[in-house]
Amino acid sequence: MKICDLGEIQGDMLLFGGIYSNLAALEAFLLFAKENAIPVQNCICMGDIVAYCADAEASTNRLRQFACPVLAGNCEVQLAANAVDCNCGFDEGSDCSLISRGWYAHATRQVSADNKVWMGTLPERIVFTRRGERFAVLHGGATDISHFIWPVTKDAEIATEITTLTDQVGKIDHVIAGHSGIPMQRIVDGVSWTNAGAIGMPSHNGSPDTSFGYLSDYKFIIKQLPYDFNVTIKAMKAAGLTQGYHETLRSGYWPSEDTLPLEMRR
Ligand SMILES: [Fe+2]
Repeated sequence: MKICDLGEIQGDMLLFGGIYSNLAALEAFLLFAKENAIPVQNCICMGDIVAYCADAEASTNRLRQFACPVLAGNCEVQLAANAVDCNCGFDEGSDCSLISRGWYAHATRQVSADNKVWMGTLPERIVFTRRGERFAVLHGGATDISHFIWPVTKDAEIATEITTLTDQVGKIDHVIAGHSGIPMQRIVDGVSWTNAGAIGMPSHNGSPDTSFGYLSDYKFIIKQLPYDFNVTIKAMKAAGLTQGYHETLRSGYWPSEDTLPLEMRR
């Protein structure tokens, strides 16, 4: 397993992931980082640079140009391996599985060979320390890159993930993850688990704003990211990506609830 240790990090940090080929959202996020004077090395991307939206190659190039630490998401792992699907963890035959075939095919056509090679070099875990505490950053779960941890996931299941992660990277005080696209914060057995959501797609709550994590010395909050979603919708329509996620950008609701636990469905 490739683990990247960033050592001690001081100052405010931004934890973001799920760009999902949404270039307009990425630009809005980078503007926030610039306006708040967050150093590039204090911004950590948790993967899934590429997914539902149209600008897979441009988003990858923009992130590489920004040059912050980047973790591999399942989409990067699959593209690097020239795999046939996204391995998002969708059930076979589900709406999400069927819709993913459209955007994954678009992404794998668009992303350059050079960027796929780069995706294959990305670490699976990032660790760092600050103020005497140790943080581990991962994409989805420690047992599986595409494991979904939801706000309703039982403590025992999260405890298993924390134990597995500790075996992989050593003792930790905090875990920061993404993949599910829905923000959450929980403390299990004295270890915090935060999902910072995604910047490229709303979190199924009726708002078009997306989300990322803002870690300061005294608290870790989920920030909302407003951006011009009409730009992204226009690009998706031009690329023929009209299977439903383009409407999500405006409505704030996912096109399917197949992957969601029953108690989180509308
Ligand atoms: Fe993912």
